[in-house]
Order: sequence, then C-alpha cells, then structure tokens
Amino acid sequence: MPEIAGQVVLITGAKGGLGSSVTRACLDAGATVAGTSRSIANADFAHPHFAAVPADLSDPAAAQHLVDTVIQSLGRIDSLIHVAGGFAGGAPIHQTDEATWDSMMNLNARAAFHILRAVIPPMRKAGTGRIVAIGSRAGVQPAVNISAYSASKAALVSLVQTAALENRDAGITANAILPGTIDTQANRKFDPTAGGETWIAPERLAALALFLISDAAAQITGAAIPVYGAQL
Ligand SMILES: NC(=O)c1ccc[n+]([C@@H]2O[C@H](COP(=O)([O-])OP(=O)(O)OC[C@H]3O[C@@H](n4cnc5c(N)ncnc54)[C@H](OP(=O)(O)O)[C@@H]3O)[C@@H](O)[C@H]2O)c1
Repeated sequence: MPEIAGQVVLITGAKGGLGSSVTRACLDAGATVAGTSRSIANADFAHPHFAAVPADLSDPAAAQHLVDTVIQSLGRIDSLIHVAGGFAGGAPIHQTDEATWDSMMNLNARAAFHILRAVIPPMRKAGTGRIVAIGSRAGVQPAVNISAYSASKAALVSLVQTAALENRDAGITANAILPGTIDTQANRKFDPTAGGETWIAPERLAALALFLISDAAAQITGAAIPVYGAQL
C-alpha cells in the first residue's frame, strides 16, 4: 500500500461510484479525508478521519470556500484527488443542444478550473502538493455521439498538464487518470447485460490515485495515464 498515512486529502465527488472507493482507500491507508460533493454528509463515511464539506464546484466562490474551510479545520491540503464529473451524450454534434454542452463544460472543465485555482495557492505556499484528476479515455480518444463529454475531458487533461508545468518548481505534481468504462453500480444499472468483466475496477483506479499522491510518485508529473484494461 502506498505510504500516505497522515496526509490531508481533499477528494471531490467523494461519494460517487469511483469516489467512494478512492475515499475508502485513503481512509484505509491512514489519511485524513475531506470529502466533498453537493450532497455529502459525515454519515456517508462513518470514520473518525473523514470530514464532509459539501460544495457545488460549478460555483467559483463555493470552490474557494471549500478550500478555505478545509485548511481552517484540518490545517492544510497535502493532496487533491478530483473525481467529480459526469457524463451526457447520445447524439452527434449537429444534434447536440446547448444544455448538454453547457452541463459537460460546467461539470468536467469549469469545476476542475475552479478547484485547481483554489487549491494551488496554498500548495505553492506550502512548497508541496499533489493533484490527481480523473479524466476519461474520451478526453484523448473522442468517440461518436459524446462530443461535449469528450471536449470537456480534453479540457480537463489540458488544465492538469498546464498545472503541472506552472508548478513544477513549486513541489507540486499534477496528473490525470484516464479510465475506460468503470465497473460502477450506475453503469451496471444502466446496462446490466454489458461486460462487467472488461470494465475497470474502481479499486484499481483508487490504488493508482493513491500511488500518485505518495512519495514514490514524487517525480511523476504532467502525465495522463490510460487505464483501459481489456477495453484497449
Ligand atoms: N463511470 C465511468 O464509466 C467513467 C468512465 C471514465 C471516466 N469517468 C469519470 O470518473 C469520475 C467519477 O465517475 P463516477 O461514475 O464515479 O461518477 P458519479 O458516481 O456520478 O459521481 C460523481 C460525483 O460528483 C459529484 N458531483 C456532481 N456534480 C457536482 C458538482 N457540481 N459539484 C460538486 N460535486 C459534484 C456527485 O455528488 P453530488 O451529486 O452529491 O454532487 C458524485 O459524488 C467522473 O469524473 C467521470 O467523468 C467515469
């Protein structure tokens, strides 16, 4: 298990299909977790080292308030694991409406911009920090009928790699993980007949995120790491 005991980790989307695995893995590894989403509560993870801090990341002031609150209550943020995001699609570009485009850009690109902008200054001040964001295969390999999703995840990868460049002299690493379809309850519910055996196990993505925030990964930055498994 990567050595992250004692870290303060801010996890966005902490109670989602993937986020709950990431949160549990961090807690099991001895980290203190500030978990955020719009509806999160302390009861979602009954653990003495878990603190729920609800926030809507599409609101820049809320993202800043989230970071300020975590630093005030837990003293610092060693690592950010940005899991929050979402999916919409099903039509080609010429049939994609403004609402779909806006929701994907807000949830996957703008929210990432807001949380990165809020978390980088205290990390720079501390002279250390780890940023991991969950992108998607679609962010580097677009597919038909998911243009808004693909473009928003491409923007996320670009933001993370820019954060890596801008902060390479400040002790901060920033990396993106690009999963294929993940074996979540929501995906199984959506398509119970689909091949769960080829889907990516959330626990494996969580293990990679933990490695990236551990000291062992101190020189890995600016990476966009594909995790496609048998979907390759
Ligand atoms: N599932 C897949 O197959 C798959 C594949 C590739 C990449 N991904 C990416 O992996 C990540 C996790 O996916 P998932 O399937 O675990 O998603 P999920 O179950 O839908 O979880 C998304 C999380 O984000 C939070 N969230 C949504 N909107 C938010 C907002 N405006 N502000 C703050 N939090 C917000 C949700 O909680 P609240 O509703 O309480 O806010 C929830 O905790 C996403 O970035 C997704 O794009 C997923």
